Amino acid sequence: MKFFADTADTAEIAELAATGLLDGVTTNPSLIAKSGRDIIEVTREICGLTDGPVSAEVIALDHAGMMREAEILRKIADNVCVKVPLTMDGLKTCKALTSDGTMVNVTLCFSANQALLAAKAGASFVSPFVGRHDDNGFDGMQLISDIRLIYDNYDFQTEILVASIRHGLHVLEAAKIGADVITAPPAVIKGLVKHVLTDKGVEGFLADWAKTGQTI
Ligand code: E4P
Repeated sequence: MKFFADTADTAEIAELAATGLLDGVTTNPSLIAKSGRDIIEVTREICGLTDGPVSAEVIALDHAGMMREAEILRKIADNVCVKVPLTMDGLKTCKALTSDGTMVNVTLCFSANQALLAAKAGASFVSPFVGRHDDNGFDGMQLISDIRLIYDNYDFQTEILVASIRHGLHVLEAAKIGADVITAPPAVIKGLVKHVLTDKGVEGFLADWAKTGQTI
């Protein structure tokens, strides 16, 4: 399973990249706004921090506008993945861009039928938002299972990128279902390593080791 960082904070991305656990990055207009930086400049910097795909999202709602913006975004670096919303114009743009060899992430997916359309449009990634799904009284993980089943039925190559992850349980469930990628805030990714018994174990070993008076 690939791990993408869902942030435009370059310090956090650099820290995760140094662990060797980072496979890519996703951004969106809200995350760019939060960074307080210019989209082109910050996306270029992020693309230099990872060799993996870096999703940069269009703002336009119409196909022509999306194509214009995609042209600017994809020139930033070879690993830019253009992110488009799951609308008819977004799907049309996805088809045009992927036919031309550009990676596309179709975002804001909230149903399995939408994911089916994204795959038919040749999307490199589809982003179902599990957290926002749960927030609204739906079962986010059931959505991931349904998409996995449909993609496997037809051998679609579109990767399921589980987005809007809120906690480690989302990551665990996504992995059990066989999702291809998760994108999560760096704090959630870093939190996966934590276990009280690991900390207690290290503490116990160190205490016993101190009694030996040895060094390695
Ligand atoms: C995915 O690409 C989105 O950037 C993201 O996961 C949205 O998450 P949120 O629901 O926490 O805003």
